[in-house]
Amino acid sequence: MKGLLLAGGANTRLHPLTLAITKQLLPVYDKPMIYYPLTTLMLAGIREVLVISTPRDTPILQRALGDGAQWGLNLSYATQESPRGIADAFNVGADFIQDEKCVLILGDNIFFGHDLGPRLRRAAALESGATIFAYRVNDPQRYGVVAFDASGTAVDIEEKPNSPKSDWAVTGIYFYDATATAKARTLKPSSRGELEITDLNRRFLDERSLKVERLGRGFAWLDTGTPEALHEASVFVRIIEVRQGLKIACPEEVALNLGYINVDDVARQARSMPNTEYGRYLYNVAAVARSGEHGVKPADV
Ligand code: TTP
Repeated sequence: MKGLLLAGGANTRLHPLTLAITKQLLPVYDKPMIYYPLTTLMLAGIREVLVISTPRDTPILQRALGDGAQWGLNLSYATQESPRGIADAFNVGADFIQDEKCVLILGDNIFFGHDLGPRLRRAAALESGATIFAYRVNDPQRYGVVAFDASGTAVDIEEKPNSPKSDWAVTGIYFYDATATAKARTLKPSSRGELEITDLNRRFLDERSLKVERLGRGFAWLDTGTPEALHEASVFVRIIEVRQGLKIACPEEVALNLGYINVDDVARQARSMPNTEYGRYLYNVAAVARSGEHGVKPADV
């Protein structure tokens, strides 16, 4: 399965922070925002990723992430000329996806919770249809909203409804079979002028091939689109990291645990960031792995 990481957009709600740079490179506590969705893709088992951003921001994202080899990934880049909508990722990424299954993640979404990796890997193993994830929120009218029948099957999905039929918002990670690109090609812009991901999901729903998995209250799904939400996400990450002494969304650590890179690779990357807290953390990750102490094993991530 291939990965699309959509990291463009107008980012107007974060002005003036984003007048000169994409929000996806702003810090969420101790690392750039894009590390969070990138490591989420890694936890889903995805190694080949197309990063999509604006003409202005694609070069700087490329400088920040490189070709991904440092994390055992294969990153490539494509430009979305204007923010035509989330589903437009399938037009921009058509050549990259070819005829494969694909997962799309939004560059400003943070997922955290026990067993997230296995849940995502199960979704990535889908044979046909689509799997998306829903999360209970107190302001569903801001999101795509799913309604379920009594058996828990998704029966309806609406974009930013005035009167939401449930509190279950569609999160920013979407797993699709190889028909997604062809389906996306048939979408028409909505009244707000965007190719809506909700319309793509509705195509699968109409075929009865949309699976909506609920992420329960033990998960965190955080938004980072406004100054307040961005700050809250930083506070959340800081609290967990300080308490546990473990980092959320450290690509070097995730890559090591998944066997994509080895201890020497981590140590080398630690040396490239001397006198930083992040570099010290990487040293520690490498030291724990070398000593055979129980660090975070692949099964735990
Ligand atoms: P949004 O938060 O919906 O839009 P935005 O980032 O442009 O922000 P604002 O509302 O402040 O103007 O986007 C969700 C994510 O998808 C975000 O990471 C940006 C990305 N995106 C694109 O890359 N291209 C697009 O055409 C759209 C609509 C969003």
